[in-house]
Amino acid sequence: MSDFFENLFNHVHSATTHFPIALLFVSVGMDYFAGKRPGLRSGAWLLLVLGTLGTIAATVTGLVAHLAYEDDSVLLSVIDRHQYLGFATTALFVGLTAWRWRSMRRGGDAGGTRAYLVVALAGLAVLGLTGFLGGNLLMEWGIGVKGVTR
Ligand code: HEM
Repeated sequence: MSDFFENLFNHVHSATTHFPIALLFVSVGMDYFAGKRPGLRSGAWLLLVLGTLGTIAATVTGLVAHLAYEDDSVLLSVIDRHQYLGFATTALFVGLTAWRWRSMRRGGDAGGTRAYLVVALAGLAVLGLTGFLGGNLLMEWGIGVKGVTR
């Protein structure tokens, strides 16, 4: 039975992580090219909110998925790097969402400012690294993988 849950959470984390990765890259891209087009700007805001919710889901499912490796100090130290970058990614995008929400309540939109784009691009770099190291957990370390490599 515990094998069943371990397997389920490995899958659930893999399934959820791709949403924030895709949505947040497209959100920042839309803001970058939006210029004075309000449609693109509000689309970017929607994707930011959904992507940020996705980082929270990824953090929760990731924390559950890693519990099975708590007794292996080598695997745990590799997972730790990915975990802390995941926390940083989540904090960055929660912060960006809160910042933008406050600006919208005051009638503006921080999404169109250079400062927002700089922080958002830094957020994408941390998100990209988190995803890359997450992929390495599977491909380099074989965590959660039952497969064949040629
Ligand atoms: C924004 C947050 C996060 C993102 C975007 C993310 C992304 C990823 C990605 C892309 C993979 C590879 C999955 C695949 O190729 O199918 C992965 C694997 C993994 N991540 Fe995360 N992750 C996040 C947070 C976390 C956290 C907080 C932990 C806690 C330790 C964690 C633990 C793991 C583990 C154990 C694996 C390998 C097994 C599995 O896929 O379930 N992740 N992650």
